[in-house]
Amino acid sequence: MSSPRPSVRPRNPCFSSGPCAKRPGWTPAALGGALLGRSHRSAAGKAKLGEVIARSRDLLGVPADTLLGIVPASDTGAVEIALWSLLGARGVDVLAWESFGKTWAADVAEQLRLDELRVLEADYGRLPDLGQVDFARDVVFTWNGTTSGVRVPDGGWIASRRAGLTICDATSAAFAMELPWDKLDVVTWSWQKVLGGEAAHGMLALSPRAVARLESHVPPWPLPKIFRLTQGGKLNRAIFEGATINTPSMLCVEDALDSLRWAEELGGLPALIAHAEANLATVAAWVAARPWIDFLAEAPETRSTTSICLKIVDPWFLGLGEAEQRAAIKRLVGLIEEAGAGFDLAGHRDAPPGLRVWGGATVAGADIEALLPWLDWAFEEVQG
Ligand SMILES: Cc1ncc(COP(=O)(O)O)c(C=O)c1O
Repeated sequence: MSSPRPSVRPRNPCFSSGPCAKRPGWTPAALGGALLGRSHRSAAGKAKLGEVIARSRDLLGVPADTLLGIVPASDTGAVEIALWSLLGARGVDVLAWESFGKTWAADVAEQLRLDELRVLEADYGRLPDLGQVDFARDVVFTWNGTTSGVRVPDGGWIASRRAGLTICDATSAAFAMELPWDKLDVVTWSWQKVLGGEAAHGMLALSPRAVARLESHVPPWPLPKIFRLTQGGKLNRAIFEGATINTPSMLCVEDALDSLRWAEELGGLPALIAHAEANLATVAAWVAARPWIDFLAEAPETRSTTSICLKIVDPWFLGLGEAEQRAAIKRLVGLIEEAGAGFDLAGHRDAPPGLRVWGGATVAGADIEALLPWLDWAFEEVQG
């Protein structure tokens, strides 16, 4: 197959898995209403923060009895606040099948040093055996493994009646995949992912059971101020009404509001999910017609609709050593970047050498379609 240099570029060449593409039509004018130079604790500041929480709740269908707050340090902050605040009361199962799950497992093993830890692991491309998870223990997992493009297919494997808490890093799943809120005690995400907002702020959702744990369990380790959700043994509920622990960026808050309003206008969660699914379907049809490329995710039902990770299976590429493979990927994505046709297309540095294309709702379907011939072209170029 000979692939000429395509003549059409995606209108928006941003395909990064975070920070993700801004919504179509975004310009800095979207930030015109930002409450700059004002206190985030003023009535107007709290109203903006409260609006982010309210619009996020509505879009995602967060249950009324689940609290939702804005916390520091993006998704990492939200996950680590949860781990540091909640763990230690019982044994923990951590599921790790790519870089982020491995990070949470290392946190629990090396920082919190919990003995009662089981790490259920799988290689890039696979999920661990979900049937092995013990819901009498606390369970920490990533809904969508951003660095392998492997997601849990649904919540069927999660026990409805459970003694432990389920702590779910959903940063590349929220606003793109259905989340079973009744089975998740903690859910985290950041603004920089599916809705194309800015980084540095995290969202933390806590079920009544997570709140009960917070109010009954005192972790044996010190908690920095930015991790502290309780005061005198009681939950600091104000955090979940927009009184943030420390100072947020009101510019980022305005941007988050813009992204939420856009998502509502698009048709809400069903439209966001459908958009990502359509983007995956476009990539899947292209992959199916090519012998040189495949999904990193082995089972189709585990294929991410957001962080779409691809592996090169051409005999020429497979005959290279890993360093040469990484160099080939670098050249391939470099050619496309130089042409202005697509940015940030290399797989994550911790993943096997490959490609990654973000398919969340801010990426236009036409842009994915326009990108794919560039991958064909660049793959042929790097072999020449
Ligand atoms: C699954 C997952 N967890 C955590 C993170 C870290 O997010 P942040 O850098 O926003 O803290 C990412 C970022 O890509 C991610 O994909």
